[in-house]
Amino acid sequence: MLKLKGSHHPVISYRPIRPSDLEVLERIHCDLFPIRYETEFFHNVVHGRDIVSWGAVDRNRPNGHSDELIGFLTARIVMAKDSEVEDLLRFDSSKSDQTLVYILTLGVVDSYRNFGIASSLIREAIKYAANISNCRAVYLHVISYNNPAIHLYKKMSFQCVRRLHAFYFINGQHYDSYLFIYYVNGGRSPCSPLELVMLLVTYAKSGFKLAASRLWRNEDRKISKWAKCKESGSLLPTMQNKRILIADSGAGGGCQFV
Ligand SMILES: CC(C)(COP(=O)(O)OP(=O)(O)OC[C@H]1O[C@@H](n2cnc3c(N)ncnc32)[C@H](O)[C@@H]1OP(=O)(O)O)[C@@H](O)C(=O)NCCC(=O)NCCS
Repeated sequence: MLKLKGSHHPVISYRPIRPSDLEVLERIHCDLFPIRYETEFFHNVVHGRDIVSWGAVDRNRPNGHSDELIGFLTARIVMAKDSEVEDLLRFDSSKSDQTLVYILTLGVVDSYRNFGIASSLIREAIKYAANISNCRAVYLHVISYNNPAIHLYKKMSFQCVRRLHAFYFINGQHYDSYLFIYYVNGGRSPCSPLELVMLLVTYAKSGFKLAASRLWRNEDRKISKWAKCKESGSLLPTMQNKRILIADSGAGGGCQFV
């Protein structure tokens, strides 16, 4: 059971962010982030203009605050071909309509941290992305010193794919960022050099097995002329099964690395 410092038992529920959240949303962003967001951004969030969002509220929060935001996630759908992660996708240029969900902001007010609220909000965003058939990934940037957030994304199985030098400029100082990505709908990255080598080895192995099986089949044909006389029909199904097994293991090996 969730426990808040010396108070009630929270009952967390999730809902879309709406116009009545404007003031609180702006205040929490101001409290949680070193970056100032423009008023227009908050208006776009609460009116759902080009931005999708999820809010968390504590239904058991006293003093009329039971519908007040205590956490949020905002995101935007972007075209994969226009994004900075295009090269990290298994991109089919004939399908230029592929999209991504880019997480813009994520936050939970201090007293509600470590209850799994951010994890739930991220899961919502992933579910949302996975339900868009042409969406290939969810991705985001995180400032390099934000250990709680980095821990969270790793825990949620996001992959850290890049470190971007001096990505942020805050109060006159540059900070690096990490780029995290979570693939959906088969949008996995193209092969790394190591994966390519392993793929080649797998193909070489399956090619060798195929050649061996052909040789073996030729040998068997010679034998079967003799065997047919004794056990007619029993050899052919056995050989077919063997071929299916070889094909399966070849395909399975391929899938692992592609
Ligand atoms: C990052 C943040 C959204 C996490 O919210 P949350 O609701 O507390 O997250 P969850 O409860 O779902 O999960 C938190 C995970 O981070 C871990 N964590 C929390 N504080 C941590 C810390 N200081 N160092 C390392 N890990 C930490 C928790 O232990 C938990 O992991 P676990 O389940 O393995 O224990 C919240 O700390 C926050 O709002 N921070 C300020 C805004 C921010 O940095 N947003 C992210 C911008 S990219």
